[in-house]
Amino acid sequence: MLTFKKHISEILEHAIHKQFGADSLTAKDICSMLEYPPDSAMGDLALPCFKLSKILKIAPPKIATSLCDALSGYETLCSALVQGGYLNICIAPVYLIESILTKIESDREKYGSSSQGSGKTVVLDYASPNIAKPFHIGHLGTTVIGHSLKLLHEFAGYHCVGINHLGDWGTQFGKLIVAYRKWGSREKIEAGGIDALVELYVKFHAEAEKDDNLNQAARDEFKKLEENDADNIALWKWFIDISNREYDVTFAQLGITFDSYAGESFYTDKMPEQVKKMREKNLLVIDDGASIVDLSAYNMPPCLILKRDGGTLYPTRDIAAAVYRKRTYDFDKCIYITSAGQSLHFAQWFKVVELMGYDWFEQLVHVPYGTVSIGGEKLATRTGNVVLLKKLFAQAIEKVRARIEEKNPGLTDKDAVAEAVGVGAVVFHYLYNSRIKDINFVMEDALSFEGNTGPYAQYTYARTCSVLEKAGEIPKAEAKITASEEGEVLKILSRFPEKVQTALAEYEPSVITRYAIELCTAFNRFYHNCPILTAEDAAVRATRLRITKACGIVIKSALRLICLRTPEKI
Ligand code: ARG
Repeated sequence: MLTFKKHISEILEHAIHKQFGADSLTAKDICSMLEYPPDSAMGDLALPCFKLSKILKIAPPKIATSLCDALSGYETLCSALVQGGYLNICIAPVYLIESILTKIESDREKYGSSSQGSGKTVVLDYASPNIAKPFHIGHLGTTVIGHSLKLLHEFAGYHCVGINHLGDWGTQFGKLIVAYRKWGSREKIEAGGIDALVELYVKFHAEAEKDDNLNQAARDEFKKLEENDADNIALWKWFIDISNREYDVTFAQLGITFDSYAGESFYTDKMPEQVKKMREKNLLVIDDGASIVDLSAYNMPPCLILKRDGGTLYPTRDIAAAVYRKRTYDFDKCIYITSAGQSLHFAQWFKVVELMGYDWFEQLVHVPYGTVSIGGEKLATRTGNVVLLKKLFAQAIEKVRARIEEKNPGLTDKDAVAEAVGVGAVVFHYLYNSRIKDINFVMEDALSFEGNTGPYAQYTYARTCSVLEKAGEIPKAEAKITASEEGEVLKILSRFPEKVQTALAEYEPSVITRYAIELCTAFNRFYHNCPILTAEDAAVRATRLRITKACGIVIKSALRLICLRTPEKI
């Protein structure tokens, strides 16, 4: 569609110069005036001539008529029609075949990719769970939005570095150490994993409500940890190990690996240099014993850098990490994907980086997302009201497994397919909404094979595979389009590259999720209304098979970009 738009703009530019003498209007200007009509019956592109009318001082219908004439010589490209002040343009079927189908056939899984990012590096900080805290449904957003953004950037030619910035440092470890020594046991934790650690954490908070001494004890233990106390270090390492064992299972189910697992603790020895720099720049103010950067001039609360006891804080570690990443990766962009609840935190420390004089502060990007609730209930670790991702995935996988057992008992690889479809259903359902929206997760909706779901999209992909398998090699024949459903599918296929661009520009994987549904719906309409394998005319049959194949390629690409696998049989 992008190339189509470009072609049309160039022809119109030429016509406007010739007929109206408006030489300063460029094809780019015209391209930006082209719109997609809300109803495809009105055409595939429309040029509202009102803006032009102001520039040219000619009535819109007159401009539209004259431009319509100009397009009349290009019937292999388009047909055009005037409607009031609008010029409506339809893509010619031959063009769709020549430029879209053949392009997908030659580019295959690269169709839609670009080299816009070549030579540029993007660092993405995502997933980043807090050690010893459960990996719950609230982390689904950072993990899958983050990974999808990484895949999208790679697709656009960027070199990407995915970092799992583990929350492996902070006072919570003081709390855990105290709780473990008071109420825990090695056996229980080895057996219970993160659940057992969370239990300790929850107990700590309940007890600390009654006895404030516990909070001081926790601060003391964390301080000892910061000072490299051997016993505390050993416990801390063990907590990390227990936690990672579980996270890895979830990441493997999602097919995600990271390029770096450097967590917050990695920056311990890198913070003093930055704190020194803040001092030199006169940014630090002492407030009630703590060191802060006053941000009142920017309408923000102060950014906390050092606690009263000299201990460091979350922003301090983020600042040190950003400097380290700039030096190590020389990024063009460093993207942080977290819940919108952390927006202020990022705005604050981004500002501090700017005030410190780092000229790359504008390359720091925060991508926030909304909250998830289940059955309308908000989730919080402290109260123990959490829905673990591993449980949610397990539930989805089990349901899909039962369905396969019922509908397709002969399927080989049942476990792998159930995992791909079950986990995919959860991810797809989540990524269907624009990221900033708060969503309420409903498992039945996610798993439906009929709605706008992952299983529906994966099933459609499997359908394309099944048709192609039955067809064998696609016979060579002249291309022939006879039904409107075919043209519809091709037009949607033509929009994929643009959708990738939009998803990237807006940091919005949902653009791809929705596109996948649009394409699958169009394909299924085509599949139901147009006989493919049984088409009588050899040219029609071959063209339909080519369309089926192209759909399969693009559905697979789109689903891959939002972290879904595409089994060939379900
Ligand atoms: N560990 C944090 C959390 O779970 C998220 C970390 C995000 N990344 C960062 N560089 N601050 O809330």
